[in-house]
Amino acid sequence: MAKKRILTGVTTTGIPHLGNYVGAIRPAIQAAAAEDTESYLFLANYHGIIKCHDPAMIDDSTRAVAATWLACGLDTERTTFYRQSDIPEILELNWILTCITAKGLMNRAHAYKAAVQVNIDAGLEDQDHQIEMGLYSYPILMAADILMFQANQVPVGRDQIQHVEMARDIAQRFNHRFGKNLLTLPEALIDENVQLLVGLDGRKMSKSYGNTIPLFQTPNQRQKAVNKIVTNLKEPGEPKAKDESPLFEIYQAFATPEETQAFEQALNEGLAWGEAKKLLSAKIGAELDSKTDAYNDLIAHPQRIEEILQAGAHKARVEARELLAQVKDAVGIHTLK
Ligand code: ADP
Ligand code: TRP
Repeated sequence: MAKKRILTGVTTTGIPHLGNYVGAIRPAIQAAAAEDTESYLFLANYHGIIKCHDPAMIDDSTRAVAATWLACGLDTERTTFYRQSDIPEILELNWILTCITAKGLMNRAHAYKAAVQVNIDAGLEDQDHQIEMGLYSYPILMAADILMFQANQVPVGRDQIQHVEMARDIAQRFNHRFGKNLLTLPEALIDENVQLLVGLDGRKMSKSYGNTIPLFQTPNQRQKAVNKIVTNLKEPGEPKAKDESPLFEIYQAFATPEETQAFEQALNEGLAWGEAKKLLSAKIGAELDSKTDAYNDLIAHPQRIEEILQAGAHKARVEARELLAQVKDAVGIHTLK
């Protein structure tokens, strides 16, 4: 039986935090280890420049995201790991797909609609005020990313389901119009069990809220970050329930069910918040400290990251060229015979 292809992209606009690790990085690395799958993972830097207009941030993030995945154990033999901008075929496919995508489909995209809503709420006459074409046609670029490598499944967060469905629509339209079953129809893969990690303030941990705990820190820095998690004024010895501080859920994301149960019991029996924070910081460290050295080493040697990305791009381009040639041929772009 043919192997199932899984593909996903990570936008290069931030420095990875514990939420990204628990919700995306750890499960993806586990999924890529399965025998019946082939996986593709890429740094979506052309997506990055849609929302982020700070070149230094795009550069830092590309380095940090790549080093994070590698330090967390991504097996680059099993996973084709590349940077979007190293595969120019994606942009060629993007244009061909743009020519068959209904404008109405893009009008319905969530990101565009949200930007329009901001303008309407501000009472502006021009609903498209300051909205750029990159944001508007972003689902087509995402479709090109996915269809270029014939992905069957695309693991994404819930906010991205609509984009994967659009990629499927676009592929169907292409296949129908050109009478060939060239493009594989993808589907979104949503992990029902993925934990949404809470941040220091009790909201979802997110770089947009400034409430994150960075993934790679020294034990001291981490303890300082963990100490900022909100708790209440209960004294040592007073019983505490697990929902009285976000620290319990973070602990749970790094502990076995037995350890989690013991932690809950200790809180019920009056464990001091200060002690709980020490236990939490140690628990996170037990999973991440060994990876921190690898991360720092990669960050100090960007050339190593570059070599890995180039090797991934080389592998990916062989396939991309092949599919693109067939797609161009299907639309009538080829050498004259
Ligand atoms: P952020 O909210 O920090 O901007 P992104 O939107 O870039 O994070 O998310 C990147 C990946 O990390 C996505 O797959 C998303 O589902 C996952 N992720 C982000 N925040 C969390 C969180 N708090 N808990 C679990 N997963 C998360
Ligand atoms: N748009 C996705 C996000 O913001 C990232 C992404 C770009 C992606 N291209 C993709 C995800 C292709 C899956 C497949 O998270």
